[in-house]
Amino acid sequence: MPKLVIEGGKSLQGEIKLQGAKNSVLPILAATILSEEESVIQNCPNLSDVAITIEILNYLGCKTRLEGENLIIDPSNLNKTEIPEEYMRKMRSSIIFLGALVSRMGNAEISLPGGCELGPRPLDLHFSGLRQLGMIFEESHGKIKCSLGRGVLGSNIVLSFPSVGATENLILAAVKAKGITTITNAAREPEIQDLADYLNKCGAKIKGAGEGIIKIEGVKKLHGAKYRIIPDRIAAITYMAAAAVASGDILIKKINLEHLNSVIPIFEESGCMIEIYNKENLRLVAPERLLSSTAIRTMPYPGFPTDAQPLIMAMLSVAEGSSMIIENIFESRYKHVGELLRLGADIKVEGRTAIVNGVKRLSGAEVKGMDLRGTAALVVAGLCAEGTTKISGLKHLDRGYEDIEGTLSKVGADIKRI
Ligand code: EPZ
Repeated sequence: MPKLVIEGGKSLQGEIKLQGAKNSVLPILAATILSEEESVIQNCPNLSDVAITIEILNYLGCKTRLEGENLIIDPSNLNKTEIPEEYMRKMRSSIIFLGALVSRMGNAEISLPGGCELGPRPLDLHFSGLRQLGMIFEESHGKIKCSLGRGVLGSNIVLSFPSVGATENLILAAVKAKGITTITNAAREPEIQDLADYLNKCGAKIKGAGEGIIKIEGVKKLHGAKYRIIPDRIAAITYMAAAAVASGDILIKKINLEHLNSVIPIFEESGCMIEIYNKENLRLVAPERLLSSTAIRTMPYPGFPTDAQPLIMAMLSVAEGSSMIIENIFESRYKHVGELLRLGADIKVEGRTAIVNGVKRLSGAEVKGMDLRGTAALVVAGLCAEGTTKISGLKHLDRGYEDIEGTLSKVGADIKRI
């Protein structure tokens, strides 16, 4: 089984180029099937989740080809309406095809993706919203058949929680509905705005993406578009945390500063010096010793992102003093704590709250990644642990990071994949 081997203690210096955002490219690739014309998706990251999404597009009858960082999709021959179970199990976010597939083909069949490492992950908000848009669901033997009575009809939908996936699925279902759809208490993540920007470039009429109420005026037809994916804000936070623990001085190029508004204060509070050059390059200089952070609560955007929680926890595990982290988004997103304890961290979890008592040094050990951001947190910890850290569970890491070991070794880390 492949492992990452890290010799801790090296400092990180240099420039980091950011990949395109995983959580943006997945819904946008699903959106390409809404028209019958070719789209070109630029800055497409090389991730296993993207590879699975391309497999699904090919399975459905689309033609895809990769030219460098540009993915070209020709959805004109789409001729299938079901997503096989193997794909739903491999990648739970393939649920994002549901709204688009029914909108394009009038029906769809999927199997329930099941839970994942972060807890049960129900889909009730997806289904209740899609039902309001006119979708009829029949469930049997773990499969769900979706069909349309009188077509997709615009509706006023209120989400009880600003679910990212549900907001995306509803946008994809509503862009060609008859009439107007409003989504109240919609998720406001930058990836939602990116999806709306792509669809509007294809001729959709979406207003208010990124705010709490999204208004969609259904259109008859969409055309293809050329579109550049936004930079990956969680990858940016990962490299910032890596530099922070490895007494680093790094420059991350072409970030979208606004997307980091809720995390930059945490880095500054912990003693890092942050400088912004011409609004899109961020320099982070780490302090001698990191300081603890009072309280960090994960919240829907623009609050502190849940995906950054494991990364910041790894950083605070070597800060001076105690920090409190409250995970408000997912049921169980503390699987990385047990592995951080193996590296010598001092962390106590009580329900949704984790108390991190910073230690002077972590010490290298063999650890196992259990989910995407939890495994990235182990990489951050390994960079500052004394001696050798071996990390398994790389299939999680490769879902969301494009060559993390290459990126980190370019700025001085001693990290190899064996
Ligand atoms: C997206 O997941 C991201 N994934 C996640 O990133 C991210 O953590 C999450 O949004 C929150 O920002 C992708 O975009 C592919 P949610 P999603 O629906 O859409 C509950 C990563 O590491 N919920 O906003 O699944 C759900 O159980 C991944 O890149 C319902 O109860 O997130 C969770 O507790 C991890 N019913 C909370 O809402 C529903 O119908 C947030 O889920 C849907 C969700």
